[in-house]
Amino acid sequence: MTKQPYGLATRLTEYGDREFAVYLRRSFAKSMGFSDEALDKPIVGILNTFSELNNCHRGFRELAEAVKRGVWQAGGLPLEFPTISLGEVFLYPTSMMARNLMSLDVEVMLKAQPLDAVVLMGGCDKTLPALLMGAASANIPAIALAAGPMLTGNFEGERLGACTDCRRFWAAYRRGEIDPATINQVEGKLTVTSGTCAVMGTASTMACLTEALGMMLPGGAAIPAVHADRLRCAEATGKQAVSLAQSGLTPDRIMTGAAFENAMRVLLAIGGSTNGIIHLTAIAGRMGLRLDLAQFDALSDSTPVLVDLKPSGEGYMEDFYEAGGLEVVLQELKPLLNLEAQTVTGQALAEWLAGDYRWPDWQSVIRPAHDPLQAQGALVALRGNLAPDGAILKRSAASPHLLNKTGRAVVFTSLSDMAARVDDPNLDVTADDFLVLQNAGPLGGPGMPEAGYLPIPKKLAGVKDMVRISDARMSGTAFGTIVLHVSPEAAAGGPLGLVRHGDLIELSVDKRQLNLLVSDEELAARRAAQPPPDPLPPRGYERLYFQTIQQAHLGADFDFLRHELLEE
Ligand code: FES
Repeated sequence: MTKQPYGLATRLTEYGDREFAVYLRRSFAKSMGFSDEALDKPIVGILNTFSELNNCHRGFRELAEAVKRGVWQAGGLPLEFPTISLGEVFLYPTSMMARNLMSLDVEVMLKAQPLDAVVLMGGCDKTLPALLMGAASANIPAIALAAGPMLTGNFEGERLGACTDCRRFWAAYRRGEIDPATINQVEGKLTVTSGTCAVMGTASTMACLTEALGMMLPGGAAIPAVHADRLRCAEATGKQAVSLAQSGLTPDRIMTGAAFENAMRVLLAIGGSTNGIIHLTAIAGRMGLRLDLAQFDALSDSTPVLVDLKPSGEGYMEDFYEAGGLEVVLQELKPLLNLEAQTVTGQALAEWLAGDYRWPDWQSVIRPAHDPLQAQGALVALRGNLAPDGAILKRSAASPHLLNKTGRAVVFTSLSDMAARVDDPNLDVTADDFLVLQNAGPLGGPGMPEAGYLPIPKKLAGVKDMVRISDARMSGTAFGTIVLHVSPEAAAGGPLGLVRHGDLIELSVDKRQLNLLVSDEELAARRAAQPPPDPLPPRGYERLYFQTIQQAHLGADFDFLRHELLEE
């Protein structure tokens, strides 16, 4: 029997006899047909989130095999294991309800199993955040591998990509511009390969942020799911995981404050999903770091928007990949980045970016820093008496004429209220009004559903955008003048719950303000008349969720999962 200081001899099952535990574990491992030589290698776990209820991860079986090739080549023993998989459109009421559960499962299994390093395979919206949150808390050597984006489809000569075009066609269908037969045909053309949504939605945003954090191999974010380069990236990831097992480089040395600042810059420069802020905040919280909206806003003022992809712009992820992907963005942002930040390659960002770089002048989806799409970042943080702890607006996806405006509130008190009334021909609404949705936050939704993209009432046919305000999230693939993540949420007693039909609301992106123009006395009277909160669910995960979920500005993590040094 060989005794290693790693692999099977670590994190032993407790029998009160260490030697017995090693002997028994090796004996059982041999039942899988491994030789002594194989069992003496460092163990690289491959955390595979394949699921037949997650279309985006359909290619993960092949991808995992490529990772294994890389691990074997570098002298490790690859052992694949599952965890919860969150397929965005297959989960009720929303995948966000389960992100923290997945992160906890990841943390527990990384701490419990004899792993020297782990490859984190994720992609669909909540999976990469949950994997990074779990790995941050477990703090064992880890490297992420993304699913990669889908290729685009085509309908009657028009290029289509999930899910910006899903929403665009649905909005046209609601306006009566296309018929049921056409929407039925479009349904089959929107998502045509494995992989994550084809635009700069949440999944692609989180893949880019993972690369920017240094937790993924350079270039790993944008390779399409079905491209042969994706398999080569998987193989290289497996090899690098063995290096991590040998060097012992842990996430706490990679995901530092400097790395999170780099990731925030990238989020702004790529016109990334608003969900990216919540997830980054939650991941940072696991490292004992607080990302606040004021810091984010300050970075926004000095970070140009460089990437012209849907939903804000024109291109798709495959165009971004062909244009050079995130490395081009990082090269253009170089003067703004913390180049000393460490990465999973074992190199600092400075070394990664030190190679030959030539501006890809033949492409149009990435712009040079001296000629950006917008001089300032794509996302802004708002504050005011309607959002004391902040709110978010995606400036790059908004209509400029709506960014500084005062409007009359048309209030929906819940998702079901909105569903029942938004298309009522008698709804008292004009295009100049602000649509307000209450009780769709972390508690009220629950799970902060992606309902912030409130539909334009049918009676306003032809209107393409209105100011919409809620405590919900928005799909990274949606667009419009939409204020999200209002914190504290209505269900937690936030002022959003005190808005009534006809109130005036001031939105000033220039001043970063969101104010309810109602007197303090009137608000106090409304607060006193509020009904008591609903009782907690009697049992189970729902009870844990409602007892411990934090607000959006804290990343909507569970309070007991944040780093022990991070205060409320
Ligand atoms: Fe999985 Fe969009 S549904 S990334």
